[in-house]
Amino acid sequence: MLEIKNLVVQIEDNRILNGLNLTVNDGEVAAIMGPNGSGKSTLSYVIAGKEDYEVLDGEILLDGQNVLKMGADERAAAGVFLAFQYPLEIPGVGTMTFLKACLNAQRRARGEAEIATPDFIRKVNAAAEKLEINKDMLRRALNVGFSGGEKKRMEILQMALLQPKFCVLDETDSGLDIDALRIVSEGVNALRAEGRSFLVITHYQRLLDYIVPDTVHVMSKGLIVKTGGKELAKELEASGYAEYRTNEAA
Ligand SMILES: Nc1ncnc2c1ncn2[C@@H]1O[C@H](COP(=O)(O)OP(=O)(O)O)[C@@H](O)[C@H]1O
Ligand SMILES: [Mg+2]
Repeated sequence: MLEIKNLVVQIEDNRILNGLNLTVNDGEVAAIMGPNGSGKSTLSYVIAGKEDYEVLDGEILLDGQNVLKMGADERAAAGVFLAFQYPLEIPGVGTMTFLKACLNAQRRARGEAEIATPDFIRKVNAAAEKLEINKDMLRRALNVGFSGGEKKRMEILQMALLQPKFCVLDETDSGLDIDALRIVSEGVNALRAEGRSFLVITHYQRLLDYIVPDTVHVMSKGLIVKTGGKELAKELEASGYAEYRTNEAA
């Protein structure tokens, strides 16, 4: 599904990723854990195609196709999705308008017809109900005045609508209370499927009690330094990141 080879990335002359290698198989849920500043968010942005990052070397293959040669919109159409660590508030853009625009952009890029409004509303309402997102939130501007937990649930709603192939969740658990964590995790688990893979980035083992990963990778200083099964997350919870710690306090 996703194969990252020797990825070297810098921003403003700071080398962040230092020849990172990572493979995520079809249907796999891979977790990345690591201390602050190790480059986890950078990796998620580079996969999704955020500008500002300078890719000096390496490739990111999605089903054999190098996504680094594609714009962010092309990657989204190809099925790459990023749930942001800090979802943006977009005043003036209604949540429903935004969701419909995302869905239709994806459909257009795939040569499909736009979704009919009644179908769209039915889809959103069904997904929103599962995620305990109330109708009032859907009527507001995107993420404006949403609590941290509501913003994260909105990211999962977008994911449920877009049905991506490769989903990156960047610290989706941060700022969630235990109920929101359960709701978000159930939303993710419901999307687990043969042809869909996940990269779940988290700081804490707790999320991985709910979204049980197939593999766990430890990231430090822009590299994957250790790979194991789900038990590796438990070991890290017990021993901390001391042996992997970066110098940054970020
Ligand atoms: N826009 C930027 N300009 C300069 N340095 C940055 C920028 N964004 C991130 N960094 C640095 O890159 C490193 C990795 O950051 P990040 O990918 O956010 O790590 P993580 O998500 O693992 O905490 C940090 O040292 C951070 O300060
Ligand atoms: Mg981060």
